[in-house]
Amino acid sequence: MSEPPAYFDAASAAPLHPVARQAMLAALEDGWADPGKLYTQARRARQLLDAARAATAEVLRVRPDELSFTPSGTTAAHAAVLGGLTGRRRVGATLVHSAIEHSAVLHAAERHLAGGGSSTSVPVSRSGRLDLDAWSGAVAGPGVALAALISASHEVGTVQPLAEAAGACAAAGVPLYVDAAQSVGRIPVPEGWSVLSASAHKWGGPPGVGLLVVRKGTRWESPYPADEREAGRTPGVPNLPAIVAAAAALRMVAAEASAEAERLSPLVDRIRATVSATVPDVEVVGDPVDRLPHLVTFSCLYVDGEALLHALDRRGFAVSSGSSCTSSTLRPSHVLEAMGVLSHGNVRISLHRDSTEAEVDRLLAELPGIVADLRAEAGVVGL
Ligand SMILES: Cc1ncc(COP(=O)(O)O)c(C=O)c1O
Repeated sequence: MSEPPAYFDAASAAPLHPVARQAMLAALEDGWADPGKLYTQARRARQLLDAARAATAEVLRVRPDELSFTPSGTTAAHAAVLGGLTGRRRVGATLVHSAIEHSAVLHAAERHLAGGGSSTSVPVSRSGRLDLDAWSGAVAGPGVALAALISASHEVGTVQPLAEAAGACAAAGVPLYVDAAQSVGRIPVPEGWSVLSASAHKWGGPPGVGLLVVRKGTRWESPYPADEREAGRTPGVPNLPAIVAAAAALRMVAAEASAEAERLSPLVDRIRATVSATVPDVEVVGDPVDRLPHLVTFSCLYVDGEALLHALDRRGFAVSSGSSCTSSTLRPSHVLEAMGVLSHGNVRISLHRDSTEAEVDRLLAELPGIVADLRAEAGVVGL
């Protein structure tokens, strides 16, 4: 009998946490009414929403009224960027961001540019870490309305120097927005930010729930037409069963996070070391130490990325290419490009609470042969 498939793409969507499934089923029974109404069923829905907000805010160490639920991490990122810029338009129209932001942030930046604003992209090192001197210079420039920094790279896992970057923003009087989609529920996010976003399906919540946190005193204005729900920060009725499930999962994963990191991080070390040793012409990218505990990316020279993903899929391994684009648009990743590393044959492996050592060992045993076969098919010999 063949091995069961191994799912290695938690950074796109982690499998639903069992607690999330239970909470969602209960909330579908009990929390389907519109929490904005005044009758009994609506009051029950409101209680569930309030409890989910309080639990989520507690994990994030923020006030419940600073937190709004959005329809995704992407919409939260859009609102964070555009709302942060709108709120400070009297100060200036410049957005400072790292070169390795998620496409959600970069697309919001493009919208800002199309509307006449400006932006400064701050470079990163070869390991994917922000250039702090360049960042400090950029945020201290004239007319900076907002600075945006991803907490840890979704493509290569490098954790960013957030505390130092926040210090530079504070010195310049510029609010900092942090896209913490890959960190929340896995590693602590340092203080010092004004706006934060996250995404529930990265931590084992259901898809379609994002978090937008705006700290008290931050000048942020909704970029949307008026709507009073979710403190006026995101329009439309909230997806209550999914939000309840997301909050339940977050409590669980936050409590388990350091034990999970201790289990997964050595597996990532093993992948990094073994891939480097057993696959010729490979580059393992991202910071080997200052990194997310569950994510590793490597690139294989002379291999087509899409062919490699399909070959791995046929052998029962679900991986992503370290690209922020969807798999249908396998353009060279802007993150790998900004780091100046190889982007051929790129594979991102991201582990989760169900990932096992045996799955990782099976991948490591099969990968050299899969890469060699693809190179042979493409006529690359003699490596
Ligand atoms: C860093 C980062 N920001 C934002 C997002 C977007 O989140 P969502 O998938 O919930 O729209 C993702 C998901 O890929 C991400 O990794």
